[in-house]
Amino acid sequence: MLRIAPSILSADFAKLSDEIERIRPETDWLHVDVMDGHFVPNLTIGPPVVAAIRRHTDDLLDCHLMMTNPGEYLEAFAKAGADSCSVHVEVGGTAGLIRAARELGMKVGIAVNPETPIESCEPWLDQVDVVLVMSVHPGFGGQHFMEVSIPKIARVAEIARRDGLDLAIEVDGGIDADTVKLVARAGADTFVAGSAIFGAPDPLAAARAIRSAAAAAYPASIR
Ligand code: DX5
Ligand code: ZN
Repeated sequence: MLRIAPSILSADFAKLSDEIERIRPETDWLHVDVMDGHFVPNLTIGPPVVAAIRRHTDDLLDCHLMMTNPGEYLEAFAKAGADSCSVHVEVGGTAGLIRAARELGMKVGIAVNPETPIESCEPWLDQVDVVLVMSVHPGFGGQHFMEVSIPKIARVAEIARRDGLDLAIEVDGGIDADTVKLVARAGADTFVAGSAIFGAPDPLAAARAIRSAAAAAYPASIR
């Protein structure tokens, strides 16, 4: 199953419910980029905005916590209605964060930056629902896709297949109808796209184009 996860970071925040509604037919997960001004040099969305979005949609809210101290906020995100929270492996304390997110009834993911080896995620693969492989340096939408993500995705896909893991392999950053082919071919099944969807003249058509390019490239052996 392939999923499109539009990132609202590139949407018009003043019209968020309209923006979300427009792309609903092509939305599997709605990707919410939370930035704390510390782990990354930008500030974006927090629990109050997640709660507001929750009142407007039944989409799965996939919160990407680019935060130094995600553990201090997991409960607030759960109360706001987040369905899934991904925490960065770089911040440490991963075992406790996974446990805490689960106890709050959420799905949990582990996110990994471009310069961090994928081996740092391997101990957690059988304990998480999502691996979020960054294909840009986190912090901003609209950056260029980094190919360093491709072997990392392939490695996670190989382990997931070998060990029969029920794991979403999500890729985030610089994904459009061209770059999605590279990551789908490597075994990614969940595609975050911000600027390629919300920056397009027809966001719904853009999301559809990303989905069909991914489906054509995704390996038949995994399908
Ligand atoms: C970057 C965020 C991404 C971002 C992707 O730090 O994690 O989710 O919104 O935006 P695009 O698709 O424009 O690269
Ligand atoms: Zn993200």
